[in-house]
Amino acid sequence: MEKLALLGGNPVRLNEKPLEDRWPETLPEDKAAVERVFDRGHFVGLHDEDVESFEAAYADFVGTEYALAFGTGTSSLHASVVAAGCQPGDEVIVPALTFLASATAIMHQLGIPVFADIDPDTFNIDPASVERQISPRTRAIMAVDMHGLPADYAALRKVADRHGLVLIGDAAHAMGAEYQGRRVGSLADITGTSIMPAKQLATCGEGGLLSTDNLEYFNRANMVRMFGEVVQKGKPRAYNAFTLGWNYRLNPVQAAYASSQLKRLPDYAKTFAENGAFLADGLRELPGCVPPFIPEGSTHVYHMFRIKFEPEKAGLDVHPGRFAKAVEVAMAAEGMPLRFYQNIPVPGQMVFRLKEGFGGGIPWTLPGARDVNYDLEEYPVSLTVLESTRCIGASGTSGPNYFRNRRTMELYLEAFRKVWSHLDDLAGYARKMEYDPPWSNIAPSTRGVWTVLLPNQKKGQ
Ligand SMILES: Cc1ncc(COP(=O)(O)O)c(C=O)c1O
Repeated sequence: MEKLALLGGNPVRLNEKPLEDRWPETLPEDKAAVERVFDRGHFVGLHDEDVESFEAAYADFVGTEYALAFGTGTSSLHASVVAAGCQPGDEVIVPALTFLASATAIMHQLGIPVFADIDPDTFNIDPASVERQISPRTRAIMAVDMHGLPADYAALRKVADRHGLVLIGDAAHAMGAEYQGRRVGSLADITGTSIMPAKQLATCGEGGLLSTDNLEYFNRANMVRMFGEVVQKGKPRAYNAFTLGWNYRLNPVQAAYASSQLKRLPDYAKTFAENGAFLADGLRELPGCVPPFIPEGSTHVYHMFRIKFEPEKAGLDVHPGRFAKAVEVAMAAEGMPLRFYQNIPVPGQMVFRLKEGFGGGIPWTLPGARDVNYDLEEYPVSLTVLESTRCIGASGTSGPNYFRNRRTMELYLEAFRKVWSHLDDLAGYARKMEYDPPWSNIAPSTRGVWTVLLPNQKKGQ
């Protein structure tokens, strides 16, 4: 068997051309849709026929009564938090492993994010941890369909109902995924999602969507999107804001593009799921290499394909974090990149550690608000997962760049099999290499000042 490229052998793939496919895929019909908007010449996202037909098509696709298009996913989540009735100082429970914006969308309403730990197998928010984090100030739970797998909505719904909480969904990773026969976007009381270009449903720029069956939530979110005003079609604008609002509209060009993409989303989702299953089947044959777990009744659309490494199952006495890093380095040398997705639980990011917020510690210092604890030890599962896993792909890419292409899956499998046929070499390398956990390069220092060490800097320099 060829030596590991890491140790001087020939790589599985020479880096002569990019591994990733372009995403989103822009077809003639997408261009034609955009061109029609230019021909029409209406570019404001209010009462626009392309924006409205996109909203109707999306509501129909996910199976909700109402949908609203937003300028970003973050703004759709912010509007969801407002619509859910979250008041300044209220708490919303969100997973410790997610993208930052799930949590900051809560703070944009002066709400306080409270983090729950995740399930070690699905990597989604753990309903038991959610229940432990509930306080008298809790208003809502925000479930994130992490990496493309729907959260455990049945269990979360029970927790929400037991405590009278609103269930908000963050579906940014999982457009096209299904849960017990229903589509992501219809599983919570109100759901925000992103359609920026790394996502399964992509527009030609930044964008977001909100969906709900609840007319009151819809109306409130609509006002948040439109300066706090109610602007009715066919009636003169009253220029009278009822509430605090923003300008969060999506433009018609992007609505037309995304609407055209939406028609192909079911096919894309099927292809992602099939290729992911093919890769997972191959990886399962390698001891200590654990592909994403998919509960019965769910589908996965692989925004990220996160692989867990368990060296003890491969008969190796190596620290899992060291082993994961050694696999990453070995795979990179073979021309098949693996990446981190998040290297610290979100509450470990400086914005939460320093608790400066809007200044003066707001929202944590608001009257009646709780000063919640963001110590990393509160999230042991998230820490273990971040240390002992890696995702398919290079930094700055996402699932759709890989999971449309069976040949890419085959190349990954070939490289993994090669690395697994040299496990003793790999273990030797893992024991000797320099190693720090992934979150160690983020060092808290004085309040208001923080230090992020560059990769080639040593701590203390
Ligand atoms: C889980 C999650 N939530 C929210 C967002 C925010 O969406 P946007 O970038 O469209 O504002 C993202 C990523 O972009 C995300 O990954």
